[in-house]
Amino acid sequence: MPIYVAAPKEQMPEEQRVALVPDIAKRLEKLGATVIIEKDMGKRAYFADADFTQIVENSEELYKQANVVLKVQAPTLEEIEQMQEGTVLIGLLNPYRDPEKIAKLRDKKITSLAMELVPRISRAQSMDVLSSQAAIAGYKAVIRAADLANIFFPMLTTAAGTIRPAKILVIGAGVAGLQAIATARRLGAMVEGYDVRAATKEQVESLGAKFVDIEIKAEGSGGYARELTAEERQQQQDILAKHIAAANVVITTAAIPGRPSPKIITTAMVENMKAGSIIIDLAAEGGGNCELTKANETIVHQGVKIHAPTRLPSETSVHASEMYAKNLFNLLSLMLKDGELVIDWEDEIIAGCALTHAGEIKYAPAKELVEGAN
Ligand code: NAI
Repeated sequence: MPIYVAAPKEQMPEEQRVALVPDIAKRLEKLGATVIIEKDMGKRAYFADADFTQIVENSEELYKQANVVLKVQAPTLEEIEQMQEGTVLIGLLNPYRDPEKIAKLRDKKITSLAMELVPRISRAQSMDVLSSQAAIAGYKAVIRAADLANIFFPMLTTAAGTIRPAKILVIGAGVAGLQAIATARRLGAMVEGYDVRAATKEQVESLGAKFVDIEIKAEGSGGYARELTAEERQQQQDILAKHIAAANVVITTAAIPGRPSPKIITTAMVENMKAGSIIIDLAAEGGGNCELTKANETIVHQGVKIHAPTRLPSETSVHASEMYAKNLFNLLSLMLKDGELVIDWEDEIIAGCALTHAGEIKYAPAKELVEGAN
């Protein structure tokens, strides 16, 4: 079967990333695919139609021809309705929420692959959009903090005196946190990092930051953290409180997959911070790591700004799109064999990220969400 890979325009107005960039379109064509885009698909991230070969006027026409669809955000119900049965859909498909769409994907017999579910194994690193986008968020969080803060980050020795470096604490040293630490170090700040997974100590220290050791070991499954017990949470708060109070900037990234973000910074801890301090809460989408966080808002509480952006990768649309499109390409490459689309369900990467296929929901938690526990 000839392969028609298509990228429609993103429907969500605030989404500035795109799922396909000209370089990747060319690479797909070299592998024997026909690549189609909807008019103005790349515009949000400054990629021109002229840099693609086949452009169609609207999504209806696009979905009629496509057998592979590349998306950033999940398609709308109307878009799913327009897709042909058996289409392979790849994107961020919200496998933990959005039961209506998952049911629709099942009923339309779409083979949907959710990029959030790509296994965290070495072979899949080049397909890992959570990592590529988290790294962008971590970088941008520090730039945002530097802009919001009314102090310098580096130590400066000037004729007008010596300026002390800013103290930055990064809570959660996963992909976003480690990139935040690296970026803050590059800007000359004094950085501390904290996480509940033991492996992060060495990673934090290798970036030139100090590790805050609370001696709680909370490794969960698949390289992720588990939730803390009430006792562990108290122990964490007792020690972290001092470090939070001393910091000019706190960047939080702590997350547990499929669970609300752990609440780490209490209102009392915010009240103990110096006026003018900044908290950037990158965990806002899951409810935030700070009790006062409101997603996509900046709260000022007793002089402390709590900024909770959820769309930093989208705000960095050019590089975020390039990285995202490359991740998708690497996943799709597994399925392109001699100009044919061949899906190997034995491959743990493909099996791992399958959300729906042939009228069935493949991902157990999504199946339970839609069809109930049996
Ligand atoms: P994440 O976004 O789920 O969480 C961020 C960080 O928050 C994690 O480091 C987690 O340990 C930490 N955290 C959770 N609860 C916490 C708490 N109560 N207090 C402090 N910190 C807390 O994690 P992310 O960044 O998506 O990935 C983390 C893991 O995945 C790591 O083990 C990493 O090595 C692994 N990984 C593997 C990849 C691969 O091999 N393909 C790619 C990317 C990550």
